[in-house]
Amino acid sequence: MLVTKQPLFRKFWYPVIPMSELEDKPKSFELLEQPLVLWLDPEGKPAAVEDRCCHRTAKLSLGKVIGGNICCAYHGWTFDSSGNCVCVPQSQDKTISPSYKVKAYKCVEKYGYAWVCLEDAIKDIPQIPEALDPEFRLIPEFYETWNCAGLRVMENELDMAHPTFVHTTTFGSEEHLIPDLMELKETDFGLYYKSVLGVKNPQAQQKNLHMEEDKTFRTIDGYWYLPFTVKLRINYPNGKVHIVVNTMTPINDSTSQMVQFCLRNDTEAETKSADVIAFDRAVTLEDKRILESTDYDVPLDLSNEQHMITDKPGIMIRRKIFALLKEYGEMESSSK
Ligand code: FES
Ligand SMILES: [Fe+2]
Repeated sequence: MLVTKQPLFRKFWYPVIPMSELEDKPKSFELLEQPLVLWLDPEGKPAAVEDRCCHRTAKLSLGKVIGGNICCAYHGWTFDSSGNCVCVPQSQDKTISPSYKVKAYKCVEKYGYAWVCLEDAIKDIPQIPEALDPEFRLIPEFYETWNCAGLRVMENELDMAHPTFVHTTTFGSEEHLIPDLMELKETDFGLYYKSVLGVKNPQAQQKNLHMEEDKTFRTIDGYWYLPFTVKLRINYPNGKVHIVVNTMTPINDSTSQMVQFCLRNDTEAETKSADVIAFDRAVTLEDKRILESTDYDVPLDLSNEQHMITDKPGIMIRRKIFALLKEYGEMESSSK
């Protein structure tokens, strides 16, 4: 499946840029091959329009923000968050043709990121109750490009057989090749997967989790939100909870922007954010190395790859996406 060949994927919200990166100047982002420019409007809310001026096609992201509007670097035409041109410095009588406009996209702030939907959304932005819970703190972790399909990462996060082989320096345990529990439930937003996995607990993690054991169990509440967001709520026996929320925002068929934050029910005084990020950095780099070696054209037709018991969540993900494509009158696309 090639994501840019399926208009369906334009109907979802994706986090595209951390709000903190919009504070000083406009930023560009390519979403499903659509170049965008984002900036903060007069109220400090994020705005997104096509990154192409309607005058001579210069990239608006080269411009600057003036009074909450985006001003083109070429001749100074200025556009508001609706894409309407509000200033043409060269206009003698100050009139502006209504045809002077650029395409604007829906854009909102959530969880500290600007989210964009290119068309009418068929699902809401994932609801993460812990993000509103004062017991939890939110730590932004990673914002970087991965050379792989988002679908591969979604499956990976719910694949409880890979830690033994991939997470050899972090938490994978040779004693636990499969989880002790696998419960799968289809939901309106995607799926819910409960599992229990025995893991190693290296020293860095013992410190982060305030545990002295070198082995422990993770009880995982896994949520997959159509199409490319996963939340893993990892519950430890001592009551510590580490929640990873990861969206693989599709840039093009072979590339995704990895956007990850975590939520924890401890304080900065108990565990430094830098230590939390350092451990998750090691984990995610172990995944990245493998996932970037996989085909980005992920087949939804199950006969094109081989499967085993622990692939059940990934198989359900493929089935749900396939069903949704059919519902919207689309066929699976492929480069093959
Ligand atoms: S190209 Fe943007 S103002 Fe001329
Ligand atoms: Fe992993």
